[in-house]
Amino acid sequence: MKLSFSFGFTQLLLASIICFASLAQFTSAQGVQISDEQIYTVSARLAESANASWEMGTRAQAILELNATRYSVFDSSSLPPPNDVPSDLNNAMQPYWDLAARIMDDWNGTTDGQPQPLMPDGSAADPASNGITILLANWTGQSLPDSVDQGVDYAIAAKSQLDFLYSDNVPKTSDGAISHRTSQVQLWSDYVYMVPPFLAYYGVLTNNRTMLVEAYNQCKLYRSYLRDEATGMWRHVLLGRSGNDEGFWSTGNGWAAAGMLRVHATIKNSQFASSLKGEKKDLEKWVEEIHKAVYSHDSTHIFTNYADQPATADGNFYDAAGTALIAATVFRASSELGKRKYKYLGNARDAWDALFTTTASLDQGSNFTGYAHFTEDGWLQPVVNPHSYSVEGSESAEGQAFVVMLYAARRDWENGASGAKARIGLAVSMAAGVLYALL
Ligand SMILES: *[C@@H]1O[C@H](CO)[C@@H](O)[C@H](O)[C@H]1NC(C)=O
Ligand SMILES: *[C@@H]1O[C@H](CO)[C@@H](O)[C@H](O)[C@H]1NC(C)=O
Ligand SMILES: *[C@@H]1O[C@H](CO)[C@@H](O)[C@H](O)[C@H]1NC(C)=O
Ligand SMILES: *[C@@H]1O[C@H](CO)[C@@H](O)[C@H](O)[C@H]1NC(C)=O
Ligand SMILES: *[C@@H]1O[C@H](CO)[C@@H](O)[C@H](O)[C@H]1NC(C)=O
Ligand SMILES: *[C@@H]1O[C@H](CO)[C@@H](O)[C@H](O)[C@H]1NC(C)=O
Repeated sequence: MKLSFSFGFTQLLLASIICFASLAQFTSAQGVQISDEQIYTVSARLAESANASWEMGTRAQAILELNATRYSVFDSSSLPPPNDVPSDLNNAMQPYWDLAARIMDDWNGTTDGQPQPLMPDGSAADPASNGITILLANWTGQSLPDSVDQGVDYAIAAKSQLDFLYSDNVPKTSDGAISHRTSQVQLWSDYVYMVPPFLAYYGVLTNNRTMLVEAYNQCKLYRSYLRDEATGMWRHVLLGRSGNDEGFWSTGNGWAAAGMLRVHATIKNSQFASSLKGEKKDLEKWVEEIHKAVYSHDSTHIFTNYADQPATADGNFYDAAGTALIAATVFRASSELGKRKYKYLGNARDAWDALFTTTASLDQGSNFTGYAHFTEDGWLQPVVNPHSYSVEGSESAEGQAFVVMLYAARRDWENGASGAKARIGLAVSMAAGVLYALL
């Protein structure tokens, strides 16, 4: 091939156009947009509705991921976080500390009593989703409500919750998986979000490596029981005498992936990162295999309640909540695992576009008008009933939290990308332009 260096005017013009077009592609925001104000509306619905144990725990994590990333494990700084809350985070953290105080206000435990969960619940696991909230309130020296008994404090409540999980009040499998329920040994995929992140964080704050290994082991054990070899997806509820759900619940696959990513991030940013490389690698693999499995059922970009079943199947329907959570874990995985070209980003972007698409003008302040997947006042829809997972519901606190997490995960992904992207974009477009002119 002979390269000609005689640049014609047309060639130069075309070269410049290619140059700018590819630059624009790299620098402009892509896809359907949603504003901060709209996400605050979603946050308001979340704050109003999160009242069950795991909803409070999930809301707490959403607050950190959206508004106080320094205290989220997905921040790139090393753990533990500062004891003194930076003053610019005071407002953002207030609702988080309010949750901690509310839990302590209702807490029945005593200094010398039996180990207690943070709140009464038939689930052994769900109250523990608030464990990090209580640990951080202790770590940053938050004040206690006046109602709290003399001698009781955040650290005591957190320890009591931890001890409760290992007490005889909570059954275990013979190989040590802690039951999701108190009344019988029963494993739920939800557990992976509720318990292991708490164990790992506890280990970081108390400088106890064994607890990080235990967090990893709980993920490993749950995967060994719930993951289906044939499809790669996780079943929802197994091992119980009654009330099992063998289906591949979409939200459950999301809980598992999201929980394992939090454990991964906690290990990665911890003082034990270098001695837990193998554990990190496994968690990474286990998150990816969930994405691979669920996104093989992504024909409409909105998952059904049981991802492998059509919306028309008995008891099945479209579920935007599980869709949002799974998509959030894809953006997180890409950032967290350092995979800028993570294979499932396209699926997550398609889910984003489907969830946030609107027929109305894009600049509507905090309003939601003309959205297919939000009511006017910002409730995600359609959603599985979070209090009865086999039927469709109307307002889902966890669904609201998943939207907040999806938004934060994509924002952080874009921010992580922008520096490198602008440089690559410039290089690629220049190269393309020059090449065109030469040929
Ligand atoms: C919130 O939860 C508490 C404790 O589970 C319950 O007593 C109360 O009725 C709930 N409030 C609402 C508004 O659902
Ligand atoms: C984030 O901060 C905004 C602005 O203060 C607030 O409206 C919103 O409720 C917060 N979101 C969450 C999930 O805390
Ligand atoms: C505390 O004890 C009371 C009375 O036994 C009970 O109704 C309540 O649910 C308990 N609250 C917690 C947080 O354990
Ligand atoms: C509670 O906070 C104190 C002070 O930062 C710290 O020394 C202690 O380890 C914390 N306890 C737990 C259980 O995190
Ligand atoms: C570390 O955690 C393990 C597992 O929970 C516990 O048995 C051990 O006592 C802890 N070590 C210290 C020094 O607290
Ligand atoms: C948002 O909705 C309110 C109430 O319907 C309306 O008054 C307001 O003009 C809307 N704002 C925008 C920017 O569309």
